[in-house]
Amino acid sequence: MSDHTSGPRPIGISRRSALIGLGGLAVVGVGGYWLTDGMPRGEGSSYTTPLSIPPLLPSEIIDGERVFRLSAQQGETHLVPGVPFATMGFNGTYLAPTIRAASGERVRIHVTNGMRVPTTAHWHGMILPASLDGTPHQTIIPGETWTAAWQITQPAATLWYHPHPLGQTELQVGRGLAGLFLVDDSEADAALPSEYGVDDIPLILQDITIQSGGTQVGTPTLSPIGRIGNTVIVNGTHRAWFRATTGLVRFRVLNASTARCYNLELSTGDAFYLLGTDGGLLAKPEPLSTLLLSPGERAEILLRLPAGVEMVLRSAPHDLGMSNGDTIASGARDSLDLLRITGAATSAGGHRVPDALSSTMPLRADPVPASAATERHFTLENSTINGRTMDLARIDTVVAASSTERWTVTNTSSRAHNFHIHGTQFRVTAMNRQPPETKDAGVKDTVLIRPGSTVDLLVPFSAYADQATPYMYHCHLLWHEEQGMMAQYAVAS
Ligand code: C2O
Ligand code: CU
Ligand code: CU
Repeated sequence: MSDHTSGPRPIGISRRSALIGLGGLAVVGVGGYWLTDGMPRGEGSSYTTPLSIPPLLPSEIIDGERVFRLSAQQGETHLVPGVPFATMGFNGTYLAPTIRAASGERVRIHVTNGMRVPTTAHWHGMILPASLDGTPHQTIIPGETWTAAWQITQPAATLWYHPHPLGQTELQVGRGLAGLFLVDDSEADAALPSEYGVDDIPLILQDITIQSGGTQVGTPTLSPIGRIGNTVIVNGTHRAWFRATTGLVRFRVLNASTARCYNLELSTGDAFYLLGTDGGLLAKPEPLSTLLLSPGERAEILLRLPAGVEMVLRSAPHDLGMSNGDTIASGARDSLDLLRITGAATSAGGHRVPDALSSTMPLRADPVPASAATERHFTLENSTINGRTMDLARIDTVVAASSTERWTVTNTSSRAHNFHIHGTQFRVTAMNRQPPETKDAGVKDTVLIRPGSTVDLLVPFSAYADQATPYMYHCHLLWHEEQGMMAQYAVAS
């Protein structure tokens, strides 16, 4: 690829107009880094484009397996009316269909690379053999089809999938190769809104860069945490409007941006309920008024929507623990309206906020089992882990199959990072020696670590021993990951 921007690249922009675009973006507006055409707070109440919902991926049962087919594609998408972007998607030109399968089911997924560049398909948050994980070790060359088949052994969760080719993950995810992978189980479905697209709504957040007025297009600027766009689209919809038909709606939010963090809140100031984190449901709904999600993290939230209510889901300024200049450049001071939400016309009955959610996943981490004897320490520097950059030929850590370890991760740099481990769902037992806040107290695979912070993790490893094929752990700020902030672990029998 000749360009280095990670976001969808606008099409047909001459070098001259691209330069004009950059010039415009360099101007620092009052109270913000961007000339935000953007979505300044207060605009969201006028959004009128119906929120698009990624389709469910069709499947067929063959020999006891649920079989899916995906094809990665390059194309052009008008992410903003009248403005074509060079984009990528699975089974379409931008984003991807939602995969849905039940806990316990066997799935088989055929992934065809219909693009002109190599790719992979990584099942983020899924516990499966490393040889099926879709890392750079399972590259799919253009025209080839790769198949992964496994049994889903984990409980209900909102997982996701995206490419993971070495050096190209930021670009491919940023252009739209990202989809949800929902693991269902009947116990969870009974207690919660679970009619997909009706009261169970995916919200995939990505930021793109457009110029003031939306007619010209710019290039995202590199901040200390990666490339930050000035406009957020939700499921690919710019200025999206969701009109509820029920009084209780479950949103499954995925931060699919490569760098931008979102601090979710409601314009009414109302609380919402956190139902689940990356790897599954909490023991019970937890009321929250704000929720910070860094790239790669998911949250399931439940909103009570009285008839006729009008509100805006937005992202509020937040603290990433960086210097003032770095905070501004990273978009952490931005107020962004994401989604207009309107309650049903007449009050609808149905679900109540449940008292309990999951019997298997207590909110607070279990006491450390005696078997978690192995303790490892990791430091995150500006773009390295323990002083090293990624080497596909080096396995950095070897763990025992089915063991649980304590990992302590310290961010010694001046940049915010997060930490994602493949092939596991872990617990955050402490953040800076204190109990984690609610958003980190559930089952996680990705956790934000601010400069100077230390996180203690309890990490259960899979039974899938394979000394030759490693899993990855890395910062999910994908520009950092691309710079080599990634390492590999293998599971030994
Ligand atoms: Cu979401 Cu290593 O990835
Ligand atoms: Cu992953
Ligand atoms: Cu990082």
